[in-house]
Amino acid sequence: MELVTTADGSKTLYHAGIGEHYHSRHGALQESKHVFLESGLQFFLKRERQQDAVSVLEVGFGTGLNFVLTADYCMQHHIQLDYCGIEAFPLPVETIRQMAYESYVDGAVWNGFIANYEQACRERVQLTARVNLQVAYTEVLNFAVEKTFDVIYFDAFAAVHQPEMWDDRTLAHVTKYLKPGGVFVTYAITGNLKRSMKALGFTIEKAPGAPGKREMLRAVFTGLPASSAAE
Ligand SMILES: C[S@@+](CC[C@H](N)C(=O)[O-])C[C@H]1O[C@@H](n2cnc3c(N)ncnc32)[C@H](O)[C@@H]1O
Repeated sequence: MELVTTADGSKTLYHAGIGEHYHSRHGALQESKHVFLESGLQFFLKRERQQDAVSVLEVGFGTGLNFVLTADYCMQHHIQLDYCGIEAFPLPVETIRQMAYESYVDGAVWNGFIANYEQACRERVQLTARVNLQVAYTEVLNFAVEKTFDVIYFDAFAAVHQPEMWDDRTLAHVTKYLKPGGVFVTYAITGNLKRSMKALGFTIEKAPGAPGKREMLRAVFTGLPASSAAE
């Protein structure tokens, strides 16, 4: 695993085995803020109005960049955050520390994350009064919990490297954990992805992409698979 500096100065990792970076080389921080925080979390909160609690499920927890930005935003806005990241290959805490994401978030968020990350990979942990975290150490298709979430951050490696993460089976498995009205965001958009999400009962939207990508996908769960909705 190689530490790489992206165009906005923030760091990412290059996974030689997969042949891909964990984030956009055009800017890890910009991508994370644009795709997940602004187009996902903030879009959901703005639509719900007066929301003082939110739950997020992330597919591909990796370095935790999306998590720390989300936790920081929720702390600043007095929102209770319940965050679950799915990760089949959790990174060592030393690798995460090297990402130096503390420059982008409040010290309490970063220190709480680093101090509790290893425990969060085993069980749900309360990081601050408002934020709890669990990193579900499992292959995505084996992920199982007894609850549903408001927002899904879908941050798998690109389909060209890991097509199985983007197929109908994986998307159906992950999206069954989204509440009706919940929001699914990812950095990419393809014809196959749009078709799969529509068939799963989502209304889809092409949103402007992060730097380096023209468009990204945002999808809102109607609560019914397309086949039932048409009946
Ligand atoms: C694009 S990276 C995620 C970047 C991450 N969100 C971050 O901010 O660092 C994709 C992640 O998916 C994980 N992954 C790959 N295959 C997986 C699988 N089958 N199930 C769960 N996670 C998987 C990888 O280990 C990697 O951490």
